[in-house]
Amino acid sequence: MNSRQDPVKRFERNRFFLKDTIRQSIDFGSTEQSRQVPAPPLQKPCPADALRIDLPDGAAAMARLCSMGVTEAIRQRESVRSYSAGALTLEELGALLWATQGVRRVLSPASALRTVPSAGARHSFETYVAASRVEDLPSGLYRYLPFDGQLAQLYLDGQIGRKAAYACLGQRFVANAAATFFWTTIPARVEWRYDLAAHKVIAIDAGHVCQNLYLACTALGGGTCAIAAYDQEACDRLLGVDGDEEFTVYLASVGKR
Ligand SMILES: Cc1cc2nc3c(=O)[nH]c(=O)nc-3n(C[C@H](O)[C@H](O)[C@H](O)COP(=O)(O)O)c2cc1C
Repeated sequence: MNSRQDPVKRFERNRFFLKDTIRQSIDFGSTEQSRQVPAPPLQKPCPADALRIDLPDGAAAMARLCSMGVTEAIRQRESVRSYSAGALTLEELGALLWATQGVRRVLSPASALRTVPSAGARHSFETYVAASRVEDLPSGLYRYLPFDGQLAQLYLDGQIGRKAAYACLGQRFVANAAATFFWTTIPARVEWRYDLAAHKVIAIDAGHVCQNLYLACTALGGGTCAIAAYDQEACDRLLGVDGDEEFTVYLASVGKR
């Protein structure tokens, strides 16, 4: 039978994910938050032995480097898959990280506001940067520490761009990017508040993050391309995450035009 002949059966479960029906079945009186279980940390702890690199102030960098206003950035936004050999500066990288996941205000040990919206301000993402051409950063894998305004150097690897492209199912433009952003989710941060209603909002939240990257890249004169076609296991392995409590959900390549 052609799959389109009985689409309800074939697509039902996945379409259900897009609806909010599941909320009716959740007892919000017994979520972890309601039971006063401590919330997961707002930021994944940094490995004790990781070198930390201070980032320039992201908001100041963005203000200094922006060559256009929001109207023009929205007008010019597009996916860019062709990059020049130019390197990003650390200031540019700091601006892009701030625009996508920077912290605006810490409300309590359990919650903070960032430069992007997030359901219940739960912000489940961690940002990893596979840096191939960033001034003052040796080629390798880094993790953004938004609460510290720093990058953690996870490991050095001169082939990180090629490996990122392989993990993106061989999409060649990834190998030529100056850097590739990998966003992982730590679902427990959202499940703590929303239980089974967490997962759809995590997917929605990811879109906001990448849209800010598009707009910030455009305003800085660079280019980015969202990536959702990737090898789950290869990405998780590259980042060194366990694939259960933390796993890749979205990526974007970044470079100079
Ligand atoms: C969720 C999502 C996933 C995407 N995944 C990929 C991808 O894996 N590879 C790719 O080359 N482009 C990817 N894109 C970019 C789209 O192809 C692009 O946004 C679309 O062609 C429209 O072009 P524009 O962004 O220039 O308007 C993705 C975009 C989104 C929003």
